[in-house]
Amino acid sequence: MSPTVQTFDLGSGVKIPWLAWGNGTGSAAQIPVEAGLAALKAGIRHIDTAQSYRNEGAAGEALVKSGISKDQVFVTSKLSEGPGNSTIPFNQVRPKIQESIQKLGFIPDLFLIHNPFIVAPADLKKTWQILEEMKDAGELKAIGVSNFRPQDLELILDGGKYKPAVNQIEYHPYLLAHLEPVLALQDKHGIVTESFGPLTPLLRHPTGGPLKPVLTKIAKRIFDANPNLPIPIDEFAVLLLWTRAMGVVAVTGSGDKERIKLLADISFLPGNLLTKADVEEITSIGKTVHFRHYRGHMENDFALPILPDGTN
Ligand SMILES: NC(=O)c1ccc[n+]([C@@H]2O[C@H](COP(=O)([O-])OP(=O)(O)OC[C@H]3O[C@@H](n4cnc5c(N)ncnc54)[C@H](OP(=O)(O)O)[C@@H]3O)[C@@H](O)[C@H]2O)c1
Repeated sequence: MSPTVQTFDLGSGVKIPWLAWGNGTGSAAQIPVEAGLAALKAGIRHIDTAQSYRNEGAAGEALVKSGISKDQVFVTSKLSEGPGNSTIPFNQVRPKIQESIQKLGFIPDLFLIHNPFIVAPADLKKTWQILEEMKDAGELKAIGVSNFRPQDLELILDGGKYKPAVNQIEYHPYLLAHLEPVLALQDKHGIVTESFGPLTPLLRHPTGGPLKPVLTKIAKRIFDANPNLPIPIDEFAVLLLWTRAMGVVAVTGSGDKERIKLLADISFLPGNLLTKADVEEITSIGKTVHFRHYRGHMENDFALPILPDGTN
C-alpha cells in the first residue's frame, strides 16, 4: 500500500485507502480492464467491484496486467442479488461467494452484502453468519455490508460474532439529514462509512443547489493559496476532500484517463487543505437539503427528512 495515501482503520490492523476507484458505474463499467489498469498505473490502490457489475474478472485482470502485486492493492467485492433482481436461495450464498473469489483470482480484502434484499428477509442474519464463518475459516478477510438501514444493521449486530467493518451507502452532504440514524449507529459500533455517489451534488443534482457556490469559493481559496499543488483544485476535489475529512471512504470512479489521473492525484493530496470551518460550512449547508440519486429501499421503512431538494 502506498504510504502517502491516507487510510482509515478497519480494526485488526486492516487499513483501507480513503479513495476507491469503482468499476460499477459510468464509463468505467464499459471498459473495466483498460480503465482499471489506468487507475492502477495512476497510483490508485483501492478497487471496488461487485458480482452485479459483472466486472470482478476485469478487476483481477487489470491487476495482473499492471504488474503490481496484490498485497499493494485493496480490493472490495460484494454478494449481489440474482438475475433480474431475484433473491439468492440460501444454499447458493456460499457457492456465490466462492465464485467471486474464483473470478477475482484472490480473496478480496473486503467482502460486502450488497444490500439487505439480496436474500429473503428470513435469510439475512444467516447470510451474515456465512460471511462470519468464512472469515473464521480464512476464506474471507474483512466483511461488511452496503445499503443497510438502521434496522438491517441492528438485525445482524444482534448476537453477531463480528460487527460489519463498513456500510457502503450513498453518502454526500445532501443526505446527511436522512442518514443521521444510520451514521449514529455506525459511530456507536465503530462501523466505517463508505460513500458511493460522493459527487452527486455536483453531477446529478439538477442545479448543484446551495452547496455549489460554496464549493466554488473554497476551491478558489485553496487554488490561490497553493500555487504548487500538482492539480488545480476544483469543486469535485473539494467534495472528495470533505468526504475524507468526515472520516468516510470515497468510492468514486471514471473511465476517462485524464479524470482517473486527477482522482489519483486527489487521493495523494495533504489532509490540511480544507479548514475545520470549510468542513463545517459544507456539512451545515448539506443538512438543509435532501437529495438522493440512488433511489430504492433506503427510502422504504426509513423516514425521509422534511427538507427541500435544493433546486430553487
Ligand atoms: N454499493 C452500492 O450499491 C453502489 C451503488 C453505486 C455505486 N457503487 C460504487 O461506487 C462507484 C462510484 O459510484 P458513482 O458513479 O455513483 O460515484 P461518483 O463519484 O458520484 O460519480 C462517478 C462519476 O463521476 C465522474 N467524475 C469523476 N471524476 C470527475 C471529475 N473530476 N469531474 C467531473 N466528473 C468526474 C465520472 O464520470 P466519467 O466516467 O465520465 O469520467 C464517474 O462516472 C461505482 O463504480 C461502484 O463501485 C456502489
